[in-house]
Amino acid sequence: MMRSLLVLAAAGFAAAETGIDAWLRYAPVSSPSSSQSLPSSIISLNATANGPVHIAAVELQKGLAGILDHNLSVIYPVSYQPGNTTSSILVGTVAEYANSFGGSPQIPRLVDDGYWLNATGSTVQILGHNERGALYGAFQYLSMLAQGNFSNVAFASNPDAPIRWVNQWDNLDGSIERGYGGPSIFFTNGTVVDDLDRVSAYGRLLASIGINGIIVNNVNANASLLSTENLEGLGRIADAFRPYGVQVGIALNFASPTANLVYGNLSTFDPINPDVITWWTNVTDALYERVPDMAGYLVKANSEGQPGPLTYNRTLAQGANLFANALQPHGGILMFRAFVYDSVNLNESVWKEDRANAAVDFFTGLDGKFAENAVVQIKYGPIDFQVREPASPLFAYLRNTSTAIELEVTQEYLGQQCHLVYLPPLWKTVLDFDMRANHTQSLVRDIVTGKRFNRPLGGAAAVVNVGTNDTWLGSHLSMSNLYGYGRLAWDFSSDPEAILQDWIRLTFGSNPTVVAAITNMSMSSWPAYENYSGNLGIQTLTDILYTHFGPNPQSQDNNPWGQWTRADHKTIGMDRTVSNGTGFSGQYPVEVAAMYENISTTPDDLLLWFHHVNYTQQLHSGETVIQHFYNAHYAGADTAQTFVTQWEGLQGKVDQQRYNETLFRLTYQAGHSIVWRDAITNFYHNLSGIADSQNRVGNHPWRVEAESMTLQGYEPYTVSPFEAASNVTAIVTSANATTGTAMTTLNFPNGTYNLAVNYYDLIGGKSQWTVSLNNHQIGSWVGDLEDRLGHAPSIYLDGHSAARITFHNVTVGKGDVLKIVGVADGIEPAPLDYISVLPAGVVD
Ligand SMILES: *[C@@H]1O[C@H](CO)[C@@H](O)[C@H](O)[C@H]1NC(C)=O
Ligand SMILES: *[C@@H]1O[C@H](CO)[C@@H](O)[C@H](O)[C@H]1NC(C)=O
Ligand SMILES: *[C@@H]1O[C@H](CO)[C@@H](O)[C@H](O)[C@H]1NC(C)=O
Ligand SMILES: *[C@@H]1O[C@H](CO)[C@@H](O)[C@H](O)[C@H]1NC(C)=O
Ligand SMILES: *[C@@H]1O[C@H](CO)[C@@H](O)[C@H](O)[C@H]1NC(C)=O
Ligand SMILES: *[C@@H]1O[C@H](CO)[C@@H](O)[C@H](O)[C@H]1NC(C)=O
Ligand SMILES: *[C@@H]1O[C@H](CO)[C@@H](O)[C@H](O)[C@H]1NC(C)=O
Ligand SMILES: *[C@@H]1O[C@H](CO)[C@@H](O)[C@H](O)[C@H]1NC(C)=O
Ligand SMILES: *[C@@H]1O[C@H](CO)[C@@H](O)[C@H](O)[C@H]1NC(C)=O
Ligand SMILES: *[C@@H]1O[C@H](CO)[C@@H](O)[C@H](O)[C@H]1NC(C)=O
Ligand SMILES: *[C@@H]1O[C@H](CO)[C@@H](O)[C@H](O)[C@H]1NC(C)=O
Ligand SMILES: *[C@@H]1O[C@H](CO)[C@@H](O)[C@H](O)[C@H]1NC(C)=O
Repeated sequence: MMRSLLVLAAAGFAAAETGIDAWLRYAPVSSPSSSQSLPSSIISLNATANGPVHIAAVELQKGLAGILDHNLSVIYPVSYQPGNTTSSILVGTVAEYANSFGGSPQIPRLVDDGYWLNATGSTVQILGHNERGALYGAFQYLSMLAQGNFSNVAFASNPDAPIRWVNQWDNLDGSIERGYGGPSIFFTNGTVVDDLDRVSAYGRLLASIGINGIIVNNVNANASLLSTENLEGLGRIADAFRPYGVQVGIALNFASPTANLVYGNLSTFDPINPDVITWWTNVTDALYERVPDMAGYLVKANSEGQPGPLTYNRTLAQGANLFANALQPHGGILMFRAFVYDSVNLNESVWKEDRANAAVDFFTGLDGKFAENAVVQIKYGPIDFQVREPASPLFAYLRNTSTAIELEVTQEYLGQQCHLVYLPPLWKTVLDFDMRANHTQSLVRDIVTGKRFNRPLGGAAAVVNVGTNDTWLGSHLSMSNLYGYGRLAWDFSSDPEAILQDWIRLTFGSNPTVVAAITNMSMSSWPAYENYSGNLGIQTLTDILYTHFGPNPQSQDNNPWGQWTRADHKTIGMDRTVSNGTGFSGQYPVEVAAMYENISTTPDDLLLWFHHVNYTQQLHSGETVIQHFYNAHYAGADTAQTFVTQWEGLQGKVDQQRYNETLFRLTYQAGHSIVWRDAITNFYHNLSGIADSQNRVGNHPWRVEAESMTLQGYEPYTVSPFEAASNVTAIVTSANATTGTAMTTLNFPNGTYNLAVNYYDLIGGKSQWTVSLNNHQIGSWVGDLEDRLGHAPSIYLDGHSAARITFHNVTVGKGDVLKIVGVADGIEPAPLDYISVLPAGVVD
């Protein structure tokens, strides 16, 4: 036994991998040709323990040991001679190099955080413009080696923009808003955790993709973060990140001066009140005393119930500048979120009201009024991280104000890490969008880097929300989104597929079959998700009032949240035209405004974002709106089924742990994509009364509804929303029973089928089900997805809890008796929706 394990280990990937090393595994690759010698030492130009240059040297040592089984010693300045630089990896800053060798190297111009990498056989030179630049260069070199790339290179790399931050929405109690990878690595029970090993490990991951700043707490901020105890804790967090060049910042609650902190309790938080200014100056000074390199602050004000300057009739700029001025002497940056809207008074019965208008409306007249160290952080679209949105017009409106784009790695509206959705292609639709400001090319990416409007600051922030889970985000495949974010924030013009393939090779190895399959799945994942969630710019159609996870189109409307679809029996979509609608299209520069104003020039994929049309409206593609909904939903769910088979093709080519865990998630996704498909198509079929021209919607020849079976201890249950159950009705165990039985005689031709069972898995109980055919057990399962998936759970039978389990290759004879026994647990009444007896290749 021992022997065979060892043999497997030598084969490469038998060792189970938890995912904790993400793309920094330094797995062995075959060495370069023997004629090419390897460096014999690492020269670190800075010996300070825990400085980024020293960390770079340690990382190089670790990387070469793992990748090439080549152990190198590190030589520090005191002990090297100029002659040692051949056959070595030299790493340090340009300034340190000049000091040591008495002259600047002849290299291209570098900016802050940029680096020079010259790898020529055994002689490698890595020089950073600053210390973290040297670390970035070392990671770049290691990324090449880890992908088996030993070619000679000599190039400089500079970041597109200085701000490359991540935001964590961690609460002090250890929970994470929209986090799907376990609790916080930073906070527990109101304070900073003692053991910060995971924080350092996160810093390492972030540094390897060029991230230089992090906001560690939720934008819906708690003032008690500013207690003296927590200032000390923040200091420890900053110490853990500093070796990796990641600067820490915090999100603030605007009303903190009036919170019941032990010091300086004020009766106002008016941003121009002198006592308030003194209060914030003092707090800021105290923070910088403990964290001298603090990145700055992030502020969400006057949005979704958060306090802000409008409370005192001050402008958003006055509010922002309060903090910017306190930070300015210390070199800190104030990120001010543009996500400001009135979530109480929006009224859908007023045709011209529109939440999408809010950002430009609220910032009207404020361009140029923000302090120089303030940056307006703008979500990519005007609503909220939807599956498709037009670029926020605020990017073009602010020209004398620095801006940054806000992206979301955590898949809040996009499957919560339980659906594979590779996001960089979505982000690129916005980054590459041309606003045509002043009739001149004005790509969003050139605006946020400061190039287009000559702004000194700019860049990107992404909400990430890693947690204590070994996989960081909850799912191995979702890590491509974090990796892709860092790579894009460094170079916005890079190609999402090329980035993806680097990530695949680093994460799963360079086997061409593995690279091809994961590339194919990932690149088709966002289009598939858009297809089976919300099409044509109608938004994600998830439940915006509850979990943001499963389908619930009705939840968009008839509430003040403003994510409306205005769908009725005949028509659907938001009329955002100037001529007859909310006027939103007029917020763009004239060329773009004209394009969106007119149905004939609006791209199909944003039609319903900008126009209110009949379901029978014809698209450029030739389909009608409603038939496109039907076709897209079937196509998207079909694509999701292929993820499972593509992944199964990698068995034995990926270590077993990650293979198993990923297969589990992809199988879940394939089932849930059918839940999405059926819910959305049924909902609009019911609303419009228009039949699917291919007769798929509402017509399921391979299904048997649970409510139509012979029930004992089970009773029918009307599901709400209705479209979350096949034919409206499910079954649950009766009030006086804990065990229920559902039986049916199958009437399908003799053959081999896949038997799918659709059920509901609620939080608050772990029911058990057993399915048998002619009293011969086929399988059993437990309703424990709430522990295994990590998405926002549900206590109802609905589109979030609906799930499918499939038993493959079941031999079924005409007249066989199928029986399912469900045992309820807790509040979960062993719910069942239907079974599908599927011939090979049928998805239903
Ligand atoms: C060496 O690294 C330390 C720690 O990062 C830093 O404080 C110091 O300035 C560096 N020395 C030089 C000469 O750059
Ligand atoms: C560094 O150079 C000196 C002098 O050339 C030599 O004695 C020493 O062995 C070298 N050290 C390494 C690690 O190559
Ligand atoms: C890269 O390093 C090699 C070996 O030290 C050197 O010969 C070459 O000139 C360097 N290349 C550039 C472009 O500086
Ligand atoms: C949480 O903190 C409170 C004090 O703030 C303390 O009384 C309690 O014991 C702590 N709970 C845990 C589980 O550490
Ligand atoms: C200033 O802030 C520090 C730390 O937040 C606090 O301990 C101190 O009491 C404050 N001083 C005043 C005058 O508010
Ligand atoms: C708010 O401020 C504006 C401009 O500063 C002023 O015109 C308006 O009267 C103020 N409103 C209130 C309620 O103070
Ligand atoms: C560019 O457009 C803005 C906003 O429409 C306008 O204020 C500005 O004068 C224009 N600049 C030039 C150079 O045309
Ligand atoms: C990671 O999360 C998954 C799903 O939520 C869970 O099954 C697993 O136990 C977690 N692992 C760790 C180490 O937290
Ligand atoms: C124009 O707006 C009204 C509501 O004010 C709406 O009922 C009507 O359908 C719209 N017309 C068109 C052509 O979209
Ligand atoms: C929608 O259809 C009706 C007739 O059913 C027609 O009068 C109306 O003009 C159509 N609206 C649009 C925007 O095409
Ligand atoms: C992976 O799943 C297979 C099949 O269910 C199981 O036999 C194996 O033990 C699992 N391996 C790991 C590492 O989880
Ligand atoms: C769906 O429900 C209706 C009404 O409850 C019922 O008449 C019909 O037979 C059901 N369809 C199937 C396929 O079970």
